[in-house]
Amino acid sequence: MYCTRNVTNDLIWVGGDDRRLAMFEGVYSVPDGVSYNSYLLSDEKTVLFDTVDKAVDAVFFENVTHALDGRKLDYLVVHHMEPDHSATLGGILLRYPDVTVVCNKKTEGMIYQFFGADLQMKVQIVKEGDVLETGAHKLTFLMAPMVHWPEVMVTYDVTDGILFSADAFGTFGALNGALFADEVDFFADYLKESRRYYTNIVGKYGAQVQALLKKAAAVEIRMICPLHGFVWRRDIGDYVAKYQQWSRYEPEVDGVMIAYASVYGNTENAANILACRLRDRGIRTTVFDVSVTASSEIVAAAFAYSHLVFASTTYNAGIFITMDELLRDLASHNLQNRTVAFIENGSWAATSAKQMREIIGGLKNINVLEESVSLKSALRTDQGEEIDRLADALAGSVQTRRRMESTN
Ligand code: FEO
Repeated sequence: MYCTRNVTNDLIWVGGDDRRLAMFEGVYSVPDGVSYNSYLLSDEKTVLFDTVDKAVDAVFFENVTHALDGRKLDYLVVHHMEPDHSATLGGILLRYPDVTVVCNKKTEGMIYQFFGADLQMKVQIVKEGDVLETGAHKLTFLMAPMVHWPEVMVTYDVTDGILFSADAFGTFGALNGALFADEVDFFADYLKESRRYYTNIVGKYGAQVQALLKKAAAVEIRMICPLHGFVWRRDIGDYVAKYQQWSRYEPEVDGVMIAYASVYGNTENAANILACRLRDRGIRTTVFDVSVTASSEIVAAAFAYSHLVFASTTYNAGIFITMDELLRDLASHNLQNRTVAFIENGSWAATSAKQMREIIGGLKNINVLEESVSLKSALRTDQGEEIDRLADALAGSVQTRRRMESTN
């Protein structure tokens, strides 16, 4: 039985929700599920925008059959070849062998990579600015390389002002019957997962997202149809503003994120004391145990907070395993424009601060505070002053940032 929703009079969502997936891309937990969106336009010609992950193939094929209502499928526009959107492309070609696949040259190559060089399909190659007229609708294609793979393109429906945005503007979380962002309290209930989606999936490619936003700003967008999550028809500017901020690596919160790796609780204790000292100074804080909280959560928080403190025990003469993973994850996501500080611990040779600095300090526009704390097994009573000095330096820096923002 089909499960579809109308986006407009002639555009139907034919995707599916996946609540059984434990780890998206094998690495990001999705406790609230994820949706794979596909849309069918019924104009003089019929157009399917992308397919879905194989996890929801059964409902997808039923949805497409229902939405076509006995008509043939004329075009399949492929925006992105990652298998969460293309795994069922082969199934569409089998069911609708006369369909013309509309894609760019890079995408065509990837289709053959995934489905074999002997795949039979009709292809119409498009490039930036090309137009496809389908009757009442006029579709133009904009290339969006590295948002999030090199072949990615988006489609702008000139007639209705709809941007089919591929991975951009998506979010983790199943739709649960809702389709439009204004059917839920998105900014209260979904922004956190949206940030986690953005930062972990395309966070590395801020410049490329900026390039796409620039192209999008040149057209009037009345609706955004992404490949995951909700369709946007209201408050589009508010969500685009978030993408502007994230893709410029601008913090959203003037405050301090503390992430610690602690084997026996002594490094954790120092992190907790620092958090208390910062709160005493009126500074917003959040604290993570990197061995407990998934890296994707901490990466998202690091994109949100202006100041970051990393506290790690020394382990095998290096950084503790989970902290090492987190720092490399942050570096590979191109984190920048942050003020950072370090706390290290080591019972005989503390070296983790130096090594953490080597990973994070070299990133773009990272200001490393001179103040740091080095523990020998546990925080000594007389080191309370060192924590205070670090709290003073962080609080001063956060307050300076606040003042600069309020005068801008
Ligand atoms: Fe949702 Fe890059 O795939």
